[in-house]
Amino acid sequence: ISTDVVPPKSLAIAMPDDPLKRDIQNPILFECAWEVANKVGGIYTVIKTKVPVTMQTYGDRYTLIGPLIYKTAPMEVETQEPTDPALVATLQSMRAQGVKCLYGRWLIEGAPRVLLFDTGSQYHRLDEWKADLWNLAGIPSPPNDHETNETIVFGYLVAWFLGEYVAHKAHTAVVAHFHEWQAGLAIPLARKRHIDVTTVFTTHATLLGRYLCAGSVDFYNNLSYFDVDHEAGKRGIYHRYCIERAAAHCADVFTTVSGITAWESEHLLKRKPDGVLPNGLNVVKFQAMHEFQNLHATSKEKINEFVRGHFYGHYDFDLENTIYMFTAGRYEYRNKGVDMFIESLARLNHRLQQSQSKTTVIAFIIMPAATNSYTIEALKGQAVMKQLRDTVTEVQARVGARLFEHAARFHGEGRTVVAPEDLLSAEDQVLLKRRIFALKRHTLPPIVTHNMADDSSDPILNQLRRVRLFNTPGDRVKVIFHPEFLNSNNPILGLDYEEFVRGCHLGVFPSYYEPWGYTPAECTVMGIPSVTTNLSGFGCFMEDSIHNPSDEGIYIIDRRTTSIDDSVNALANSMFDFVRKTRRQRINQRNRVERLSPLLDWKNLGLEYEKARMLALRRAYPDAFIGADEDNGEDVEWGFGEFPVSVQASPRLRISGLATPGDLGTLTEEMQRLETSDYRGHWSRTGEDDEDEYPFPLVM
Ligand code: UDP
Ligand code: G6P
Ligand code: GLC
Repeated sequence: ISTDVVPPKSLAIAMPDDPLKRDIQNPILFECAWEVANKVGGIYTVIKTKVPVTMQTYGDRYTLIGPLIYKTAPMEVETQEPTDPALVATLQSMRAQGVKCLYGRWLIEGAPRVLLFDTGSQYHRLDEWKADLWNLAGIPSPPNDHETNETIVFGYLVAWFLGEYVAHKAHTAVVAHFHEWQAGLAIPLARKRHIDVTTVFTTHATLLGRYLCAGSVDFYNNLSYFDVDHEAGKRGIYHRYCIERAAAHCADVFTTVSGITAWESEHLLKRKPDGVLPNGLNVVKFQAMHEFQNLHATSKEKINEFVRGHFYGHYDFDLENTIYMFTAGRYEYRNKGVDMFIESLARLNHRLQQSQSKTTVIAFIIMPAATNSYTIEALKGQAVMKQLRDTVTEVQARVGARLFEHAARFHGEGRTVVAPEDLLSAEDQVLLKRRIFALKRHTLPPIVTHNMADDSSDPILNQLRRVRLFNTPGDRVKVIFHPEFLNSNNPILGLDYEEFVRGCHLGVFPSYYEPWGYTPAECTVMGIPSVTTNLSGFGCFMEDSIHNPSDEGIYIIDRRTTSIDDSVNALANSMFDFVRKTRRQRINQRNRVERLSPLLDWKNLGLEYEKARMLALRRAYPDAFIGADEDNGEDVEWGFGEFPVSVQASPRLRISGLATPGDLGTLTEEMQRLETSDYRGHWSRTGEDDEDEYPFPLVM
């Protein structure tokens, strides 16, 4: 800590009397991320779905730390008073110095303890902390970068908290696990201040990787050649990059979510990760197989309802012969492969037209963009369809009443109980005709459901215009762009994301940059087939885990070793083949894909997190891991016991023996000494013949 900046008293270096005195058997765990109780993207999913297994191991020793967002916190967290005396003392002292925070239970499965810091309450210290950061670590911070300012204030608050906490809790080891650069600044601060915690840093992407890929760089063939400082500077993110790199280098254990991001991290962050912690999900097993199939059918009916309204006046296709495809996620046009999806849809449209197919494909794009609410057209579609349905229900009741009357008075005269024309009165016919006239429309069904803030330069809309996917009657592929995350309270397409996914037939995620990619993983556990790529962490994980993923309903498009045009064709082919499947084949495929769920279950993958924490403890307190063997008096190591054999799914798995699925990137003390090609799995196998250190052939 620099001498010219006087930190608050609480920032004093916290050194225990004797670090060895800390109990490492029942450590305290803090897990810190910007997306704790704050939904942005996939990191929220990681944290939230992992809670039940973490609670099983740590229970009340586990607390999540995140930012206090006043708008959403009341819905996410139930306030409580802390009981741990060290925590009580720490929060009291911080509050006395003006820090605002919220402590309580996060209202999710597992109900973990959560501590949210209000960065706004400490902005008056921002300049002081920026100066300290510069003096301490040489990290610059420009004046108007809000995200970085948040990162700095949050990082200093967390480091302050940890420093005080370990001073109060002198006899228990503390593991602090941080996710992503925005939560990672406390790591270098803790290290510089010798705060007696052991740290794990997990990165879910690299800043430079995401930026470089979003441009038009041939990223994967040049990964080892980038001048990282220069590239970061050119993009105005040098200061952020410094924070990320400092977090990666100062952590006791550095991990990432997939082999591909481990490789990227080694080159861009210049530290080889200690291992890979693949992302899991909280898998809910149904009693019977048909239950999730039934869910598909009921959810699909809700989507049908929306589609009838959206295409009113042009609803000339058979919903029994319609396939719902979708892509979803944060709006990263190139990184998420939306460019490739749209191009492939155009080719699919052409092929279906040429083959005179009667099948209709409706492709949804669910990606939040700046909008000014729903379009009148989109709302009107739902309204006219609702009116028609209401009218039909009324008429139906009257028809029923007439039928009943006729039947009750029927004595066998004549051949029919009632002539069909007597069932529908003239008034009913007029009413129905009026409703039907309301369905006439002179415009095509809209592509986008909302008024876009920037319609003319929106990349998705522009590409749809370029490939001329306009929802014309002749198009076999129709497109609906919903530029907002789904929510069951929405006036149109009012379904939760999960319900929507269940109702679709195929998820399509042809990402170019995707450290993991939860969206196809979520499809898998819901029993919905999906397309991903060999540039996504999830895709590589599946390639490594099972033989013939496509037989199991996971289609992996090669975006690494072939030209863009070939990848687009491969995607169009996959979709075309899928469209031609019979209903029976689709049902069968849903069953197969759902059987892969155990591979993605935190009950298995959570073990990798535990290994990371154990490694962190061992690195911080190596002596505590040596105990005298009572029999022969020799020192023995303990700590990395055998982990249970994973639950095997019935598909043919590549992994065998005493491995958890997460062992693909297994984390060991050895990792630091090995070449990156020693990450187990796909990377080492395909790399065998390459001169290059990494298994990416130099093509494209
Ligand atoms: N998601 C959502 N609502 C939507 C679309 C997506 O909640 O309408 C969630 C989805 O369930 C997933 C996350 O957004 O968990 C996206 O995570 P992913 O890892 O695929 O991408 P990221 O945004 O983290 O890059
Ligand atoms: C589930 C239901 C079936 C339904 C089918 C529709 O399997 O259990 O009753 O027929 O979904 O499948 P599809 O792929 O045509 O939407
Ligand atoms: C990041 C990545 C995404 C990953 C998620 C969770 O946001 O973009 O691929 O699934 O983190 O690890």
